[in-house]
Amino acid sequence: MLDTTSIRKHFPIYEQHPDLVYLDSGASSLKVKTVIDKMDEYYTKYGVNVHRGVYNLSHQASEEYEEARDVVANFINAKAKEIVFTKGTTSALNLVAASYGLENVESGDEIIVSELEHHSNLLPWQRVARIKGAKLRYIPLDTEGRITVEGFLSVLSPKTKVVAITYVSNVMGYITPIKEIIKIAHERNIVVVVDAAQAIQHLKVDVKDLDCDFLAFSGHKMCGPTGVGVLYGKYELLEKMPPLELGGDMNDDVQLYDATYKVAPYKFEAGTPPIAEVIGLKEAIYYLEKLGFDNIQNHVKELADYAIGKMKAIDGVTVYNPTAETGIIAFNIDGVHPHDAATNFDENQICLRAGHHCAQLVTKWLRCVGTLRATIYIYNNKHDIDTFIETLINTRDFFKQF
Ligand code: ALA
Repeated sequence: MLDTTSIRKHFPIYEQHPDLVYLDSGASSLKVKTVIDKMDEYYTKYGVNVHRGVYNLSHQASEEYEEARDVVANFINAKAKEIVFTKGTTSALNLVAASYGLENVESGDEIIVSELEHHSNLLPWQRVARIKGAKLRYIPLDTEGRITVEGFLSVLSPKTKVVAITYVSNVMGYITPIKEIIKIAHERNIVVVVDAAQAIQHLKVDVKDLDCDFLAFSGHKMCGPTGVGVLYGKYELLEKMPPLELGGDMNDDVQLYDATYKVAPYKFEAGTPPIAEVIGLKEAIYYLEKLGFDNIQNHVKELADYAIGKMKAIDGVTVYNPTAETGIIAFNIDGVHPHDAATNFDENQICLRAGHHCAQLVTKWLRCVGTLRATIYIYNNKHDIDTFIETLINTRDFFKQF
């Protein structure tokens, strides 16, 4: 287990709320002090624009910004020129669909997705399919609700053009066998887009090893800032894709009726980027790398197993994903609306998420109105889980009266 007494000292929110039981890291993780300090350093010491100024301060800001690109690239084993900074996973996935998708998908083609997708990796592909006359094919989930290679093979066809799937489900917490799926897809020249929003904070992601074509994630789920995300794309694909946003800094030569653009990744970063956030993201990466992903995974799994063991023993509580690998627990108190239950948890300073979690197809697959979702991360400890379990029992008993 990680030493959470030390870890909590790195997260200033615990100074404000010492009794906080934060079980909503799947929505956004807590923010580490070195990230906050780094952003503060940018704003107080060299808080000017990047890539534009011909003065020293601007060079300093630009150097920090471009260094962050190198750090992100090393973190996922990519090249710096394959890293596009966006405002989050949603923007990154929308960029792939609206640029690569609209340029390459044609009438009659098929796009493979799954019912586990977050809306960010589903709605953009629905639109591509609608505009281009293509068809979405859904990987049938197994009885637990997992994406499997067999399920994938059952919808693969000569018409498949793109596979767009999640690496870790934000509701079920299952790890997709993404490497095997990518290998099969590539034997047929099919491009694979990976939503890594819930994977990047738990797993050591190596884009070369996975061989994915695109991969997207956000800073704010990995102890970093909100407002920054990353799109990784193989350079030969990024090179051919048109930019979506046109404007400052992404252009090359501008004429009266036309303009040329910079090369990737710069052509995708129009306007003033989220400079402080990009620079802060570097520190989040340093922090997680120092903790080590094996340690993170073991810690989260041990606590999740502890929680699930106790939850299974409670009558009137349904856990939908007891075998999940990534500390995401989807559950309900029988007969209680998840929003009502969440209010009771909040009264005990326990933060968790309730509803459909921006993944309505998952709750439809589970045949419920929504779920409660507890997500465990590096700063959680056994005391958090004990408090959570005690409140779960009290909440069940409280609603039993009605
Ligand atoms: N996508 C985030 C979640 O799953 C917000 O909660």
